[in-house]
Amino acid sequence: MDTRSDRPKILPPGYTFDDVLLVPAASKIIPSGAVTRTRVSRNVELAIPLVSAAMDTVTETRMAVAMARLGGLGVLHRNLSADDQARQVEQVKRSEAGMVTDPVTCGPDATLADVQQLCATYRISGVPVIDEDRRLLGIITNRDMRFEDDPSRPVRDLMTPSPLHTAPEGISGDDALTLLRRHKIEKLPIVDDAGRLTGLITVKDFVKSDEFPDASRDGQGRLLVAAAVGVGDDAIARARLLADAGVDVLMVDTAHGHNEDVLQAVALLSKQLDGVDIVGGNIATRAGAQALIDAGADGVRVGVGPGSICTTRVVAGTGVPQITAIYDASLACAAAGVPLVGDGGIQYSGDIVKAIVAGASTVMLGSLLAGAKEAPGELVVINGEPFKTYRGMGSLGAMRNRERGGTSYSKDRYGQADVLSERELVPQGIEGRTPFRGDLAQIVHQLVGGLRAGMGFAGAATINDLQDAQLMQITSAGLKESHPHDVAMIADAPNYARQAL
Ligand code: XMP
Repeated sequence: MDTRSDRPKILPPGYTFDDVLLVPAASKIIPSGAVTRTRVSRNVELAIPLVSAAMDTVTETRMAVAMARLGGLGVLHRNLSADDQARQVEQVKRSEAGMVTDPVTCGPDATLADVQQLCATYRISGVPVIDEDRRLLGIITNRDMRFEDDPSRPVRDLMTPSPLHTAPEGISGDDALTLLRRHKIEKLPIVDDAGRLTGLITVKDFVKSDEFPDASRDGQGRLLVAAAVGVGDDAIARARLLADAGVDVLMVDTAHGHNEDVLQAVALLSKQLDGVDIVGGNIATRAGAQALIDAGADGVRVGVGPGSICTTRVVAGTGVPQITAIYDASLACAAAGVPLVGDGGIQYSGDIVKAIVAGASTVMLGSLLAGAKEAPGELVVINGEPFKTYRGMGSLGAMRNRERGGTSYSKDRYGQADVLSERELVPQGIEGRTPFRGDLAQIVHQLVGGLRAGMGFAGAATINDLQDAQLMQITSAGLKESHPHDVAMIADAPNYARQAL
C-alpha cells in the first residue's frame, strides 16, 4: 500500500450522469439503423445492452423470461434458497426452446394432481409419459385433463397412449414444424432407435421465435438467463446447482468486489464451471476492475452506491460517482477485452447513452424496471395511483426477508452474514415504491429508442462506436437547461414523467 505522503489525500472530482452530456458529432446514422448488439460478458452476446437487476423486487422468472425475449438479460436475485433459485433458472430455460433436451416427464402411476403440479411449476401444458427405461408410453396434455375432476386418477387412464407422432433425433427445425402442422399437434416427442425419449419440440416455441426475433438464446434455442451468487462455501454449492440447472452467466454479487474473498470466489468459479461466464463485482475503480480481471472474471460490474435505493454513500461514506467509476474501470476492462456492466443510478434513457460513452457495454437497471408488470414487487394503489414496491437488497426488509420465513440470503452482500439479531443489522439501502409502468416491452422500447437517438447524435453505428464518443462536463445551469423548464408540464411523456413519487 502507498504511504501517506506518496498520494494525494483528495482526488479530483468524480462525475455522474447529471454532470455530463454526450457531445453531438458528425453523423450518417439514423436511429433505426444503429446496431445495439453488445456483450454482457466475454462469451455472452445480447441484442440490446439492458440487464435487469438481481433484486427481489426486480428479477424473478417472469422478468428474466421477458428480458431475454426482448434481447436483454435477467439476473435472478439470490435472496431465496439455492433450490428455489435453481428452479427459477430451470423455468426460464424451459420456457421456450428450439428443442428441450431434458423434458419434464412423469410415470404412468403419477396422479392427475401430480401432473397439474408439474405443469404449474414449469408453466407447461403437458408432459410425455415414460417408463423406467425412458421408453415413451404416451403423452398427457391439457386436452386429456380438461374434463377430469378426480385428482387421484392415474396418468395411465388419462394419457393419449403410444403410438404417438414422434421424430428421430437430429430432425431439423423446418421438418419438425412440418410434422407439427401435418398432424395438428402441439408437442413432438423426439425418440432414439430404441423408442426412448430424448427430447421434445413444441409448437409454442416456433410461435415465440417468430414473435421475438431478437431474443437472447443459447445454442439450443433456449432463453439466456443469469443469476446472482455470493461468496463462501454455500455460494460455491449454490453456483454448482445453478450451473446444473443451465444458467448462462453467474454474477458474483457483492457490495465490495475488490475484496479477497470475492476475488477468490471469482477465481474458483471461473476454474470450476465450464460453459458459464462469471461476472465479478461491484467495484468502482480501475484497480478494482483489474483485480477482478486478474482473478479470471469474464465481465466486471461497476457501481458502488449510485443506486436509487442505496444508502451506502451516506452510511459508509464510500463510493465513486458513476460516470467516473465506469470510465476508470473501463481503462482496465477495454485493455483486457472484458465487457463492463454499468450498475445503478440510471433514471432516463439518456443515462444509458452516457454510461456507454463512459465505457459500459451494458447497463443494469433496478428502479426503471421495478415498476414493470413483470417485476415481482407488490402492486399498491395510493390516492388512486398504482405503484410497485421496490427495495434495496441491503434494506432492513430485504435483510430480514420475512416473506421467506426470515431467512436472509442477502445480508452477506453487505458483509453481515454473521449478524444474527435484526437489531444489529446496519442497512445500506431503503424500502420504497416506484410508479407502475405497465408492460416491460413498452419500457424497453422507450429505453432502446432513447439509446438509438443518442447513437444518431454521436454518429455511432454500433455500441463500440458509441464508446468512442465524447462527454462534456456541464454546470448546474446546464443541467437546469437540460430538463423541461419555464413551462408547467401538463402531461407525462412515455419517457419523461412529472415526478410523482
Ligand atoms: P437503480 O438506480 O437502477 O440501482 O435502482 C440498482 C442497483 O442498486 C444496487 N443495490 C444496492 N446498493 N444498497 C446499495 O448500496 C442496497 O440496498 C442496494 N440494493 C441494490 C444494485 O447494484 C442494483 O443493481
